[in-house]
Amino acid sequence: APAGLVIAVDGPAASGKGTLARRLSAHYGLPYLDTGLLYRMVARAMLDAGHDIRDPDAAASLVSIFEESAFAEDTLRGREIGEAASVVAAMPAVRSGLIARQRQFAAQAGGAVLDGRDIGTVICPQAQAKLFVTATPEVRAARRHKELAGRGETATFEGILADIRRRDARDSGRSDAPLKAADDAVILDTSALTVEEAAAAAIAIVERRRTAR
Ligand code: CDP
Ligand code: CDP
Repeated sequence: APAGLVIAVDGPAASGKGTLARRLSAHYGLPYLDTGLLYRMVARAMLDAGHDIRDPDAAASLVSIFEESAFAEDTLRGREIGEAASVVAAMPAVRSGLIARQRQFAAQAGGAVLDGRDIGTVICPQAQAKLFVTATPEVRAARRHKELAGRGETATFEGILADIRRRDARDSGRSDAPLKAADDAVILDTSALTVEEAAAAAIAIVERRRTAR
């Protein structure tokens, strides 16, 4: 029997991957996991416990014990946590400690949608459909700037653009599961697309993969 439909959505910060993953999840009636939240939870737990965010031993001990139910999503979306998440995400012990939960989620009977940085390359290399969502750094910074303003965080566009460039470099440059498109991923540049246009393009890409298998 064919396995469920697994859709992997990867891409850099504020490329629109979460928005597209949610739309795909609604369209296909599949459960959705935002894997960035797992790294954000580890970062939050490190900061709450007063650890230095660069301490790999503290991060390794925390990763196995943190409870997902202990965090409200709203407390994980801030600018500081995004930055801290990318620091702990470069630690091999943190990455390996989060693999099982992600693979269990993907293994649900009907399938699932997961978004992150390494879904198509490491977590679900067998996914039927893989999207790699991109947009220019300037477009991504403008999107994130608007989002953070909505949360009441005051930051300049230039400051957020610098954050995004630093996070891109860290996520792409790490040796363990760097941000990169899987060989069989379809690249979707959303720079000039509205959410509606990007969602229609994403569904068309998944449909081609679904009917091809
Ligand atoms: O929403 P945004 O793209 O800004 O961030 P996120 O997806 O919540 O991810 C926060 C950080 O977690 C990223 O900068 C990555 O360093 C890390 N991450 C990762 O390494 N692997 C994943 N599958 C998901 C997130
Ligand atoms: O998950 P990721 O960090 O990649 O980005 P997101 O949270 O899905 O999207 C960032 C923001 O860009 C959201 O406020 C979207 O409404 C907006 N946006 C988009 O996602 N796609 C477009 N084509 C245009 C705007």
